[in-house]
Amino acid sequence: MRITVDKNQSFGKANPMIYGHFLEHFHRQVYEGVYDPTSIFADEDGFRSDVIDALKKIKTPVIRWPGGCFVSDYKWKLGVGKERIPSYDKAWLVEESNRFGTDEFVKLCRKIGCEPYICTNAGTGSAEEMSDWVEYCNLKEMGRFAKQRIENGSIEPFGIKYWSIGNENYGGWEIGAKESAEWGRLVAESAKMMLRVDPAIELSAASINDLNWNIDLLRKAGRYLKWISIHSYFEGSSDGLKNNDYNTLMLRTGQNISENIDRARSFLTALDYGDKIKIAYDEWNLRGWYHPNVFNIYSLGEIEDIRKDPETVYRKTILEPRNNNDVNSTYSMADAVFSAAFLNTCLRNCDIIGMACFSPVVNTRGAIFTHKDGIVLRPQYFVFELYANLLKDNVLNIWKYNVPRMTGLDGNTQKSVDTVDIVVTYGNGEYAIGAVNKDPDNDQTVDISFLDDTVKTMRVHTVKGKDVDSYNDIGKTDVKIEISDQLPFRGTVTLAPHSVNVIELK
Ligand code: AHR
Repeated sequence: MRITVDKNQSFGKANPMIYGHFLEHFHRQVYEGVYDPTSIFADEDGFRSDVIDALKKIKTPVIRWPGGCFVSDYKWKLGVGKERIPSYDKAWLVEESNRFGTDEFVKLCRKIGCEPYICTNAGTGSAEEMSDWVEYCNLKEMGRFAKQRIENGSIEPFGIKYWSIGNENYGGWEIGAKESAEWGRLVAESAKMMLRVDPAIELSAASINDLNWNIDLLRKAGRYLKWISIHSYFEGSSDGLKNNDYNTLMLRTGQNISENIDRARSFLTALDYGDKIKIAYDEWNLRGWYHPNVFNIYSLGEIEDIRKDPETVYRKTILEPRNNNDVNSTYSMADAVFSAAFLNTCLRNCDIIGMACFSPVVNTRGAIFTHKDGIVLRPQYFVFELYANLLKDNVLNIWKYNVPRMTGLDGNTQKSVDTVDIVVTYGNGEYAIGAVNKDPDNDQTVDISFLDDTVKTMRVHTVKGKDVDSYNDIGKTDVKIEISDQLPFRGTVTLAPHSVNVIELK
């Protein structure tokens, strides 16, 4: 294939906030993930210093917390103050100690150097509870909640800029699910109260690619919003842990990423918010989280089993399956190739995609896995390491010719997708290209011509493993970054099979 690059043809400025992450109170993300006072890696506040270092290395810009489904019944007031009263988490059917709450989250973000982004409870919560949370975090000293924060040791306000109203309240699985008409009203009233506490905050609200949902949301609350939040897990875990083969994953996800963004964009444009509201893709991943049963209603037979032996049924059907998210061999080069293709699409849509949060940041399906002796960096992690550190500010609109296609069967459907996904960025007289070769077996060669013809040298950074199923685990590093020497640029770059590359050109 061939591309032609003109540094004056720009999609716009890349948003570093697309390299964000999501942290939910689920399984081992918070406790044993970012927070583990018993760990040999624990710092003076009980945070895992090795996780913090890994997140600093990929320049994490923002972390969304505390959920996710968890938040739709979360009482933030139980998570602040000297005494933390445990609560029952009706989303994930476990006890929440509330040991990690707002103050701990803000402290964690300060250590990482990222923006805290709070998602509020619009399930069982009220406009009052949401705005009280803004008082606690952002008012200097007026009112009881600011005074409570001061008593808890933070004299200065946290100044939290990003807030989201609700999480997936459109879904029947969500606690406190809403009809679209009631959703628009709740968001409007909650936003009004939150902005009266701090007019400088930027508000998002849960959205989905549904016309009625967005008509009600934007007509009733659009004027208060800077963002709408959308979520995608492109390879649901509904079929358990059976991972579809690499080609199916590539075929299935090839179109879906841009389709989701195009549909969200169309709703905003149709309702005249296309230049006023941006999209926060604040939960995304290739693979859905694995937590069977938790949203299902048990069959009568299972209910009989529960009556006979509740503890065993609970452990076997709810708790133990969650451990299957921790199987590192299920995160392969497919995850890295997919993640880079997702980020490339966000970069090409930088005019409207302002934020994206990989879901989640640690353990479950995250890019980092913690264990007692350290961490495992899963293949996706290296994509963030290259993209967040090496791509430039300006996303260029390039001409592409003879792009090879991959075809194959997705289920019974013959599908095809571009084999090579490329985004070209520019800044300070230098280029950096994010180039993904989805081909499982073959190199792909890309001829590159720059209209300004100033490029003399190139250096290629590549995330690769020996095959598409390569993965990392405790004591096993099959996927890593390889860096070439500084090479003379002769107009061509060759991309290894199933690889993610950032090519620096000067
Ligand atoms: O599977 C995890 C859940 O996925 C998150 O809690 C929710 O936001 C999304 O539906």
